[in-house]
Amino acid sequence: MSMVFVRGLDVCVEQKVIIHNLSLEIRAGEIHAIMGPNGSGKSTLAQVIAGNPGFEVTHGEILFEGKSIVTFSPEERARKGVFLAFQYPVEIPGVSLSSFLRTAYQRTHAEVGSVAEFQKEITSAMQPLGIAEEFSDRNVNEGFSGGEKKKAEILQLKMLDPKFAVIDEIDSGLDIDALQAVAQSINEWMSPEKSVLIITHYNRILKYLTPTHVHIMKQGRIMESGGKELAEQVEAMGYRESQ
Ligand SMILES: Nc1ncnc2c1ncn2[C@@H]1O[C@H](COP(=O)(O)OP(=O)(O)OP(=O)(O)O)[C@@H](O)[C@H]1O
Ligand SMILES: [Mg+2]
Repeated sequence: MSMVFVRGLDVCVEQKVIIHNLSLEIRAGEIHAIMGPNGSGKSTLAQVIAGNPGFEVTHGEILFEGKSIVTFSPEERARKGVFLAFQYPVEIPGVSLSSFLRTAYQRTHAEVGSVAEFQKEITSAMQPLGIAEEFSDRNVNEGFSGGEKKKAEILQLKMLDPKFAVIDEIDSGLDIDALQAVAQSINEWMSPEKSVLIITHYNRILKYLTPTHVHIMKQGRIMESGGKELAEQVEAMGYRESQ
């Protein structure tokens, strides 16, 4: 059975159609990559899957494990196991990273360990990502560098351990070592029961993640789908030549 099934999706924002008749099926164990020119609707798709109410689904369905989630709030979707790593992570003034992670964990899982136990888990999850311990006490994303924000998104992925992760341009702003660490964390989290939708402009991260499917999105539609060789083709020739 598919884990995520987007069927005939149309999405509008302020009466402007951004996604047209988009269908995408992702099964457990699969890593799908979406590439496409700026403004083609990739982040809009990510936001709509996560339940951002700023976008209106005017047609179509989003099924998660066979059930429609299209009317669910972002929190209900998160509880079901849907996670979004943002292209532009938001700052949350006044909330420390560790308390944010604990609250998010409590909201998505039935039980959470003691504060000390949870903090120990955060510290050990931070270490391979090269996030210094002091970040636990800093406000979420406030004053974080571009790369630090991206690492914090992956820290969230590791701590919340969803079933399905949409990862939007995690590679932009990461240095080479951080890119490897982030890809390794995603690979370690991944399992045959989980799946990933990764949005990227570059084949670089896909060399570490090895997508099972690659899709090219243009003007709100998936124009072409294939295997990892499609990403190599795009990198070599750009979008104009890719179809
Ligand atoms: N709130 C909004 N109001 C008006 N237009 C919007 C809004 N949100 C998105 N759009 C438009 O929808 C289109 C798709 O945007 P989206 O962010 O999904 O693109 P993208 O494929 O993620 O691009 P990039 O590669 O630059 O991140 C763009 O033309 C954008 O300007
Ligand atoms: Mg985007």
